[in-house]
Amino acid sequence: MKFQAIARVIGQKNRFRTICGSTVRVIRLNNAATTPPFVETCSAVNRFLKTYGALHRGAGPNANKTVNEVNQSVRIIRSFVNASKDQSVLFTQNTSEAINLLARLFRLNKKDVILTSSVEHTSNNLPWRYNTPAKIVSVHSFPDGSLDLRDFEKKAIRFRKKLRIVAITGASNQTGYIPNIPKISKITHQNNGLLFIDAAQLAPHRPINMKRDGIDALAFSGHKLYAPFGTGVLVLPQKLLDSVPVNPGGGSIDMISTHGIIWSAPAVRHQTGTWNATGIIALGASCRIIRKIGWKKIMKHERQLLNYTLQQLQKIPEVTLYVSPEKYLLENRVATIPFNLKGFHHAKLSAILDHEYGIETRAGTICNHQLVRKWFQVSNKTQKEIEKKIRKKNRLASYGIVRISIGLHNSFSDMRKLIRAIKKVNQNGSALKYKPDPLDETFVPDQRQVPSFHDAK
Ligand SMILES: Cc1ncc(COP(=O)(O)O)c(C=O)c1O
Repeated sequence: MKFQAIARVIGQKNRFRTICGSTVRVIRLNNAATTPPFVETCSAVNRFLKTYGALHRGAGPNANKTVNEVNQSVRIIRSFVNASKDQSVLFTQNTSEAINLLARLFRLNKKDVILTSSVEHTSNNLPWRYNTPAKIVSVHSFPDGSLDLRDFEKKAIRFRKKLRIVAITGASNQTGYIPNIPKISKITHQNNGLLFIDAAQLAPHRPINMKRDGIDALAFSGHKLYAPFGTGVLVLPQKLLDSVPVNPGGGSIDMISTHGIIWSAPAVRHQTGTWNATGIIALGASCRIIRKIGWKKIMKHERQLLNYTLQQLQKIPEVTLYVSPEKYLLENRVATIPFNLKGFHHAKLSAILDHEYGIETRAGTICNHQLVRKWFQVSNKTQKEIEKKIRKKNRLASYGIVRISIGLHNSFSDMRKLIRAIKKVNQNGSALKYKPDPLDETFVPDQRQVPSFHDAK
């Protein structure tokens, strides 16, 4: 089998000396947390910076070029998700900030209802809970992370008079589950709501078509889309912007005097201060590169790596997979695998893969506490005991999993190295002694050292 990476990212050949003394290539399998930039994205940024100038804040050849290039990137980003003419794009720092902003822009009241699921990432739960007085109603989800569509429809009908927003993740950061967005959109609109999709995990793995699928608002992050330059995106109905901005400040007004304030055009007034032009350029470049590679190729590549990994993991009896491989085969899921290895604390396994093999994963409940609790069948009594310990900052007291998340820059060789490492740990345990670091929810080798990277040739 030969699944070569289908895109070049910065640091793809990084090697580092493990604490055991061997030099290995760093394997990045924590793409759901963040992705490295495409090599071409960095080149686009470098080119842009040569003529970087004031955006909307002055005249001059550099300023003009900057305005043109940013406008061009905004067009690419809009078209990447096929936003319609009556939708605006605002730039934020990341998805979390975008959802917080959206929640405040809706200006909901106590009687309004937001429908969301019980397996949302905390970034699509807390912003609604803390920025609005609205009632949050949770839709039931199954242990494989899929949404109970019947319960969703029942609740949408029950609350139809008060339903304002349905806020659902487009792809789970934990189980890779992708809900049936067109169907959810239909039910939402039939019951007077607007559909918001948290696309942080969807955008890097599937084409998005807001117009066709009836998505009213959407958020995603550049740093998960091979453009880690501090940009998040919020696409939303333009009419939500015909109001006083929730974050007023520099650049959002045309005139202020004793007579009052003349606000700038809607899309400008809601983006306080100087925009992150470099971040927008980087994100536009990554969107363009993804389109050039083509979704068909990306989805096929990631699916092949996913299938191989699942097949191999299944052969290790000590591995627990929390979503069955059949679900990935039969359903539309992105390549994110939650698992555990018998006899190893999840955080310790992740630390061993890191320090001894140079493999990057993530461990914990990973912002999806309710779902992971379901997997571990934690009773209320045990949960309370765990929470008591966590309040005392022993974060290792929690149940948790190790997550592998695959990106388009991964190769067959990456997955093979991962499987080999898991088998070796399963057979021989760790080569080093580790001690718990409860505050950071990790384990550290006794002889901790700063990893020494070697430049790739
Ligand atoms: C589904 C989902 N939504 C939102 C977020 C938050 O993204 P950010 O950290 O860019 O705000 C994440 C991050 O992992 C995510 O997986």
